[in-house]
Amino acid sequence: MDAMNIIRDEHQSLAAIIHAVHYMLKEIGAGKLAPDFKLLKAMVHYLKEYPEQRHHPKEDQYLFARLKHKTGEADAVIARLEQDHASGEARIEALEAAMNHYEADPKGGYDAFVEAFDGFAKFYRDHMITEEREILPLCRKHFSEQDWAEVSAGFRENRDPMAGTAKPLTHEDFQRVFSKLVAAAPAPIGFGAGPYKED
Ligand SMILES: [Fe+2]
Ligand SMILES: [Fe+2]
Repeated sequence: MDAMNIIRDEHQSLAAIIHAVHYMLKEIGAGKLAPDFKLLKAMVHYLKEYPEQRHHPKEDQYLFARLKHKTGEADAVIARLEQDHASGEARIEALEAAMNHYEADPKGGYDAFVEAFDGFAKFYRDHMITEEREILPLCRKHFSEQDWAEVSAGFRENRDPMAGTAKPLTHEDFQRVFSKLVAAAPAPIGFGAGPYKED
């Protein structure tokens, strides 16, 4: 059940990044930190490239399709999650627009960006909780060993470069997450390393 670990790991990394950005925005709001737009761009780029364009398609293609084939039990939940996945592009565009406004007006644009980011974070939290509480247990119930082998092979591709990032707690942990995020982004956002490297 390698797929199970990969899904949880990719969820956990995304939760860690969201947590770190929340912390950063709080520090900015308290006047302790200046906004770092290079970092925010790296974050938006990562969200688009991995959770939206790779993690969700893997779920659609390998997990949901197979589960629908095995049982009708999850059809309603899957329909909702597929709808969430399908609206990924609009979600990223909205976040990107909020970030651009914020960059153009760092003082006046802060509240609107925080609101946009909070909405985004809440969406993801609910989405991941639904997958973990409602979909994964049904997969466990209905998938054979052969199913898991095939699903796992699919999930091993296009791994998230941020996977393995545990929830940060200290200031050093946040810095570590942010450095990794920027390092993973291609130029001109990151260190010019080009496209994300696959593990
Ligand atoms: Fe998903
Ligand atoms: Fe997911």
